[in-house]
Amino acid sequence: MQETSADRSDRARFSREKPVKILFVCLGNICRSPTAEAVFRQLAKEAGVIDRVIVDSAGTGDYHIGERPDPRACWAASQRGYDLMRLRARQVKADDFEEFDYILAMDEQNLRALKQIAPRHHEHKLRMFTDFCSTGDCTVPDPYAGGPQGFEFVLDLIEDAAQGLLRHLRPELTR
Ligand code: 4NP
Repeated sequence: MQETSADRSDRARFSREKPVKILFVCLGNICRSPTAEAVFRQLAKEAGVIDRVIVDSAGTGDYHIGERPDPRACWAASQRGYDLMRLRARQVKADDFEEFDYILAMDEQNLRALKQIAPRHHEHKLRMFTDFCSTGDCTVPDPYAGGPQGFEFVLDLIEDAAQGLLRHLRPELTR
């Protein structure tokens, strides 16, 4: 899920170093991964490294291709200043494994689905997004079937993991 590919390639063109490419992955690409995409993009902007990253998101499932993010995710995100409205759901595709440097799953089911389709030589790119959490949480739970508090909890986790990811990448991004 992304603005447009033209936006991405413009940013990449103006950077001397190759950008670090990050793909956030959940099941539907309408709740967690678009939220992670928007939160990480915002943090990268605030940190002055937006030209050094390409950020995108996708779902392992095909249930919601072309749809906007879930209104509850949009609402929760907007309350914290993140805009999901321009994003549209897409499914993970074979090229993603070639294209992206980090492919970050929201939960174990997403990671298993990715491992089933990833070429062996790209498996090292697959990780849990929560590897970058400071809270000790090991999954970003699916909020789809729950209430609004699930979306708040997911946002808390995503903000924490996104900050950890940015810290992890900082040496690469500031070279
Ligand atoms: P997401 O949430 O994986 O965070 O986008 C879900 C959205 C829709 C469905 C499952 C999870 N669904 O089954 O339709």
